[in-house]
Amino acid sequence: MIKLWNQEDAAWRLELQSGGEDALSLRMGENPRQLLVALGSDVTPELLRRAAAKAVKTAREYGAETAVLEAPGPLSREQLTAMALGASLAEYRQECWKECKDKPFTLYLAGGEDGEAALAEAAVLAKAVCFARDLVNCPANKLTPMDMAQKMTEAAQKRGVETLVLDEEQAKALGMEAFLTVGTSATHPARLIVLRYKGGKPEDAPIALVGKGVTCDTGGYCLKTPAGLKGTRGDMAGGAAVCGAVLALAENHVPVNVTAVIPAVENRLAPDSFIPGDVIGSMSGKTIEVGNTDAEGRLILADAVTYAIKREGAAKVVDIATLTGAVVQMLGFTTAGLMTNNDSFYEEFQAAAGRCGEQYWRMPDFPEYKKMIESPVADISNVSSDGCGSITAGLFVGAFAGDTPWIHLDIAGTAWVDSPRREYQAKGATGAGVLALYELCKGK
Ligand code: BES
Ligand code: ZN
Ligand code: ZN
Repeated sequence: MIKLWNQEDAAWRLELQSGGEDALSLRMGENPRQLLVALGSDVTPELLRRAAAKAVKTAREYGAETAVLEAPGPLSREQLTAMALGASLAEYRQECWKECKDKPFTLYLAGGEDGEAALAEAAVLAKAVCFARDLVNCPANKLTPMDMAQKMTEAAQKRGVETLVLDEEQAKALGMEAFLTVGTSATHPARLIVLRYKGGKPEDAPIALVGKGVTCDTGGYCLKTPAGLKGTRGDMAGGAAVCGAVLALAENHVPVNVTAVIPAVENRLAPDSFIPGDVIGSMSGKTIEVGNTDAEGRLILADAVTYAIKREGAAKVVDIATLTGAVVQMLGFTTAGLMTNNDSFYEEFQAAAGRCGEQYWRMPDFPEYKKMIESPVADISNVSSDGCGSITAGLFVGAFAGDTPWIHLDIAGTAWVDSPRREYQAKGATGAGVLALYELCKGK
């Protein structure tokens, strides 16, 4: 729990100090139960998030139950929000199916400008990120597409967001063959989850956030290895991110129209599952040659992007997905891949990501890459003939966005960390994308 400090007794003092030392280095103070975290000379909001998280995590390791967190003032509202958010995220514990031994913890934040408002905003953002983390951490046997639809719509409705869940019959009537081809590989039925947040003017077309919702990705007939199967639960992190962003926008009453579209499926093995070599249709009318059943994310995103533009009237589209292993090879666990067809939309997005400390890097879209997903028998192939896995996966999805301003985010590396790369992360789901999408939709 985080509260504004009103001179209450707190057992620990956590001090963030600006100055020459290496940023984020930590030492004990002269008094017992005093921790000092250096901020260095360039104090960004991201550094404050990380420093606050580091202080809180360390104090907790020492068994602290109450602490006051201070930083050199005067602190702006943005800086206070950053500290509160970093501290809250550091307190995240994933849902556990055994007894939890954690002691409760109260953190007092030594005030500044608009203290209460800063704390309230940070609490909404932390809740949204932790909602996404919880969904992603949830094992596949406890989160089917229907479970996900239920959890997302329940949370959305609580915040006044309009929801719609399409079942397989309804998706079929819309011609969503690419989505259903993956969806019918499992006994648990597929669902298309739609969350419409209408905070803006009724006449303004929404921005669509399309998130991959594969609750378990076995690879299908192109079966993954045992090691590959272990990470499969996190394959709906894109869906969790778009839902988290909408929840935060709604709770903070941000004046925009945003529609989240989450194609939710399992990619499994059934006797009549699709196999490599199949040719399938899609809602757009384009035919697709399936080269690999493990490249399922782009198939469901193709139909979800078409749905967002045609049925929800989206003016702009962002898709976000744990799409390729290749992006981890390229950018590691701190930076996600990005592709776009629109430079100004790209600038807007990068500014938004910069405000919340998330890192994205733009991939090239030279003409030769498009050739790699040409098929001799269909309009497009779901795998590349010549490597460049993350670029060609992005271009595949982009083919369904057409001329609509579009951004593609590949978070396969950033959505999940076995060892945290930032102080406010914990082993497992990170909630990647929630804050960047929130900031993008909110605007500056
Ligand atoms: N969900 C995976 C991508 C992934 C891999 C996410 C590792 C997180 C960690 C995706 O559906 C997939 O399997 N992609 C294949 C594509 C290939 C068959 C063209 C991949 O990256 O190997
Ligand atoms: Zn796959
Ligand atoms: Zn996948």
